[in-house]
Amino acid sequence: MSEQNSAKDALSRRDFLKLLGAAGVALTFTPFVPWGKFMPNPSNASLERAQVILPDGTQANVKTFPKNHSEVITYPKTGDSVLDQEAFKKWQFIRLPEELGGDKDDVSAFRAYSMVCLHLWCLWKYWPQEGRKRGECPCHGSMYNPLNGKAFAGPASLQASPSNVLATLYFEADNDGNLWIKPAVWSVNENGVVGYGRFLKT
Ligand code: FES
Repeated sequence: MSEQNSAKDALSRRDFLKLLGAAGVALTFTPFVPWGKFMPNPSNASLERAQVILPDGTQANVKTFPKNHSEVITYPKTGDSVLDQEAFKKWQFIRLPEELGGDKDDVSAFRAYSMVCLHLWCLWKYWPQEGRKRGECPCHGSMYNPLNGKAFAGPASLQASPSNVLATLYFEADNDGNLWIKPAVWSVNENGVVGYGRFLKT
């Protein structure tokens, strides 16, 4: 390598380190920025309620959806198949196990939480197997309570509120038992902010 090239490399390394230092200082002095506002939440949530559409194209129904079972649902749907693949639109739609109220034939038996893990945004999923019955993130082991979406183990559980509780969706059922998603409000005090969190209602 020529001397000129080594000098250039050294310079770019120095510049890079300087840049890292500046970024660190900036973050140190901005701890109270409401980062949740900048998360890529779907801003085009419809003000209309939306059907809970399962991967097989049918609408979820309280009479037929199995207990202690989950499926991935998309919300809000744009109708564009590429945009609808975004992780920030993916939710674990869960019917609770019987002992947690999943045997009730109404909306109280159901939950939906954003699949974006609150730690570093890997996608977690619900594990129904005996002894588990919880959400688990494959990246660093965060675990989520299916009753309320709160992390109870792993790095996400160590994060300060609201970044230890997953964003959620709320439902209603029609007279035939078909499930609908109520229009979401992306705020930490309502449905929560995908990838950032939610304050648990007391
Ligand atoms: S991204 Fe889920 S535990 Fe780290």
